Amino acid sequence: MNPKILILFALLLNLTSKSFQNPNPKPPKSTPSSAHIELTNYGFPVGLLPDTTVLGFAVNQTSGDFSVRLGGACRITLPPDNYVATYSNTITGKIVKGRIAELNGIRVRAFFQWWSITGIRSSGDNIVFEVGMVTAKYPSKNFDDSPACEGQRSSS
Ligand SMILES: *[C@@H]1O[C@H](CO)[C@@H](O)[C@H](O)[C@H]1NC(C)=O
Repeated sequence: MNPKILILFALLLNLTSKSFQNPNPKPPKSTPSSAHIELTNYGFPVGLLPDTTVLGFAVNQTSGDFSVRLGGACRITLPPDNYVATYSNTITGKIVKGRIAELNGIRVRAFFQWWSITGIRSSGDNIVFEVGMVTAKYPSKNFDDSPACEGQRSSS
């Protein structure tokens, strides 16, 4: 065999074997619920829902009306600004591809006050949160993993 080809072959083999190596295997995640999977079908990252038990999930394909029933109210810390957010037992809203409107059940604490997140949009590589007319934009990759629930909400 032509030595040049041999070197090329060796190089190629070396490259492909490298791509199969996984130096940092992630610990196995809990199986995502149908609600988490449904989020991705609508163009949203799973991390918009916390890593918690989903007792019930329903979406009307015609109207987009949906409801998610969680195992309990849940408190999370949102990256990257570490805003505290709470999820009620039941989250409702209207979902179409790339857009959630009339959202009820998710609140975030900022500027010493609780704000209801009224809508969420997927815009390119970003997730846009709407609080009434005010919006805040974050990279979608911040929501690739579901945040862990930190416990029960203390007030209603
Ligand atoms: C779904 O939404 C459509 C349109 O609003 C409505 O006519 C229909 O009754 C809804 N279906 C269910 C199962 O609620």
